[in-house]
Amino acid sequence: MAKKGRVFSGARPTGRQHLGNYLGAIKNYVALQQEFECVYSIVDVHALTTVETTKDLTSNTFDMALDWLAAGIRPEESIVFVQSHVPQVMELHTYLSMVTPLGKLTDLPTFKEKVRESPENVNYGLVGYPVLMTADIVLYRTDVVPVGVDQAPHLEFARETVRSFNYRYGAAVLKEPQMKNTEIPKVLGIDGQQKMGKSLNNHIELAATPEETRLRVMQMVTDPQRMRRTDPGNPEVCNVFSMHKIFTPAEDVAMINQECRRAGIGCVDCKKRFAENLNQNLAPFREKRAEIGANPATVWDVLHDGAKRARAIAEETMVSVREAIQLPK
Ligand code: TRP
Repeated sequence: MAKKGRVFSGARPTGRQHLGNYLGAIKNYVALQQEFECVYSIVDVHALTTVETTKDLTSNTFDMALDWLAAGIRPEESIVFVQSHVPQVMELHTYLSMVTPLGKLTDLPTFKEKVRESPENVNYGLVGYPVLMTADIVLYRTDVVPVGVDQAPHLEFARETVRSFNYRYGAAVLKEPQMKNTEIPKVLGIDGQQKMGKSLNNHIELAATPEETRLRVMQMVTDPQRMRRTDPGNPEVCNVFSMHKIFTPAEDVAMINQECRRAGIGCVDCKKRFAENLNQNLAPFREKRAEIGANPATVWDVLHDGAKRARAIAEETMVSVREAIQLPK
């Protein structure tokens, strides 16, 4: 089937993936493979802007790649690779930085947020984060980038940078990427309050065992107004219910909705059912993960093969970039 163009996305190596990663990104990555030629990068260089230690970089990269593959990213069709394995991205980053006004970078909401979060670690690389991200995207002559609201300013920046570069060097060398707005569901952690994340330890790992999953689910905070088993509940404010809507068959969701409202079903039962459904949903993923993980070399083979294919595209782009800049041959 002819594909509609090339998609690129990158994610920092965060190790074993959780439900939030799955629903917010991986699921979409898998689906996009139907219509697009996909390039997915594990952006280890971006991670260096904020990580405290690099000792887990390799294992986090491996664990993330393994989860992606087990979830259905198909390396025969898509390119999956590690950002630093294609050093051309660093070169392009440098050239792009010369057409980037500094003020534009320091004005970005994402940058200001990082400064607020860790004022003691405002390094040069952090300021240039969106320039590196632009290099990621345009190096592969990307047509479409799926983005949620948080990354939209970065993509707008990338588009403008492409225009500046092309204007400056008088040629349409770089391709301006389109933004594909992606509805990213807000997945809350087991606390029912904050976004699911590893750092908050409120996450449920995809690769957890069924028993670990059950224990995690049983800790989930439900409707805070519902104190006693006999109190009627409000499914619309309950995080467990919102998860049921994703993982539970529609008839059962309707039943839970009804029974919760009239205290026919309690939170403990409701969570047990959810744990069961979740485990059932994740079973094929876990099986495949065990299968691939049994031979770790296959994951690295996929990443190295991906890097090789990525480098071929990247070098082609760089030849025309160097020529457009008129660098001495
Ligand atoms: N900035 C993205 C994030 O933190 C990761 C990223 C790097 C990316 N390069 C990219 C996303 C290119 C899309 C396209 O989530």
